[in-house]
Amino acid sequence: MEKYLVIHGPNLNLLGIREPEVYGRMTLKEINENLLREAAKNNVKLDIIQSNTEGEIIDLLHNANDMHGIIINPAAYTHYSVAIHDAIKAISNPVIEVHLSNIHNREDFRKKSVTAAACIGQISGFGFYSYILALHALIHHNQS
Ligand code: DQA
Repeated sequence: MEKYLVIHGPNLNLLGIREPEVYGRMTLKEINENLLREAAKNNVKLDIIQSNTEGEIIDLLHNANDMHGIIINPAAYTHYSVAIHDAIKAISNPVIEVHLSNIHNREDFRKKSVTAAACIGQISGFGFYSYILALHALIHHNQS
């Protein structure tokens, strides 16, 4: 069975209470439950982890050899972490970047993603459904 890794970056542990007008009222636990349900429906396995630390996210990417793909929301690291960009480049797994909000219609500093260029694609602006879209995109990518 194919196995995918979902990495939630910094501050996403606070979803539900953090700026709900931007990120919605769904908690991270609820997002993960939705993802696990969708994975089961599609006969794939998911490992899901949240980290507030750049180095830990890099280690997770390095140790993901047995994963058929990775969904990552690098959160604020999106906008300045060359180290996460390099870690994604350094591994051969397909990686998709997701954002709950549409980073292109927010503050100027959010419009630039330094990590997306290392990924096969970016999905931004669909709330928790961005993760579901990314899961389907990875499954499709691996089948084609
Ligand atoms: C985010 C967008 C980022 O700009 C922000 O720093 C986040 C969340 C999103 O999912 O919309 O923490 O990645």
